[in-house]
Amino acid sequence: MTPIADTAPQRQDAGAAGAASLTVLGLETSCDETAAAVVRLSPDGAAEILSDVVRAQIEDHAPYGGVVPEIAARAHAEVLDTVTRTAMERAGLDYDALDGVAATAGPGLVGGVMVGLMTGKAIALAAGKPFVAVNHLEGHALSPRLEAPCPFPYLLLLVSGGHTQFLAVEDVGKARRLGSTIDDAAGEAFDKTAKIMGLGFPGGPAVERAAQDGDPARFRLPAPFAGADHCDFSFSGLKTAILRAWEEIDAPTDRDRADLAAAAQQTIAIILMDRAEAAMGMFAELFPDLEEDARRLVVAGGVAANSKVRAKLDLAAHVNGFTLIAPPLKWCTDNAAMIALAGAERLRRGMADDLSALARPRWPLDAERAASDPAMGGGRKGPKA
Ligand code: KG4
Ligand code: ZN
Repeated sequence: MTPIADTAPQRQDAGAAGAASLTVLGLETSCDETAAAVVRLSPDGAAEILSDVVRAQIEDHAPYGGVVPEIAARAHAEVLDTVTRTAMERAGLDYDALDGVAATAGPGLVGGVMVGLMTGKAIALAAGKPFVAVNHLEGHALSPRLEAPCPFPYLLLLVSGGHTQFLAVEDVGKARRLGSTIDDAAGEAFDKTAKIMGLGFPGGPAVERAAQDGDPARFRLPAPFAGADHCDFSFSGLKTAILRAWEEIDAPTDRDRADLAAAAQQTIAIILMDRAEAAMGMFAELFPDLEEDARRLVVAGGVAANSKVRAKLDLAAHVNGFTLIAPPLKWCTDNAAMIALAGAERLRRGMADDLSALARPRWPLDAERAASDPAMGGGRKGPKA
């Protein structure tokens, strides 16, 4: 078992504990991190992280080379009570001191989502506190605000193992999806690359390490939609091209591994940069009155940990008159502080949910756009997130 990590409680702004501050417990269980955090939202919008506990399941899934939903759900059920208790203890609070309880209600692996959602509802009911069913994507969308003020609107690139999309975040509960992947997520492309070359799990960091000494120019890989005037993505062809390139090598060496990892990483970074340019154009058209120094491109999700990706996005932002905001890695990957913050922002706006809120495997943040977009493949289960 991976030990529970604690990122030290931190304060990001003065004057947090005013009369109208809201203190919320957040729970996150939608993928392979079991997380609980207590966040206090001050009247001026500053967030104080009272505790932030994450228990990763990497070792549980590593033998399978990917997240196994049933194993994830069981692991959440086993440790969520301890993780939650730890978060409350580190915050130095008992449940009475909370103003509300928030839990991720989707999108994600539904078994795990149900564990967190039921636990959150039970705590809210027992403590007599309001409950908020949080969309995980809204958590990511608001995550830069855990660290520093980040006024609306901003352009968000959410790039993780499950999602690759651009959102114009206008307010809490108001995000417009400008573009999205039509097949795989960028994180999946990293994970698949690692799996093909036997680099281990999770794939992203392994590819980044292997790529360090590689020559990205040796393999030519496809970058779909390059230069297009929309900001959708496609990564499935890239995955296939990487597999083909790998299969063509007889008795691969570490040099082959490094070169192909470098080419894969570089191609994904270039795709993200190229699509970001289109998205920034769309965003600037949506908000023509926004001063240049108020134009922000925020990057969130696990792939934002990749330094090549960050560097390319920084360059694209600079060229297009945007500032790149890349939150610290602990807020880029899945965490419960972002869920607590989203819950507090919703409570502040009177947006609590009742205890009948359902777990939703798919739950696009911009449901209207997702439903009308043929690329998102409606289907029986509803559009992909
Ligand atoms: O946001 P996240 O922790 O979980 C969700 O998918 O919701 O993102 C995990 C993804 C994985 O696909 C992982 O391989 C990728 O982020 N990732 C990276 C790096 N660190 C994590 N990809 C590229 N480079 C990294 N350093
Ligand atoms: Zn996530």
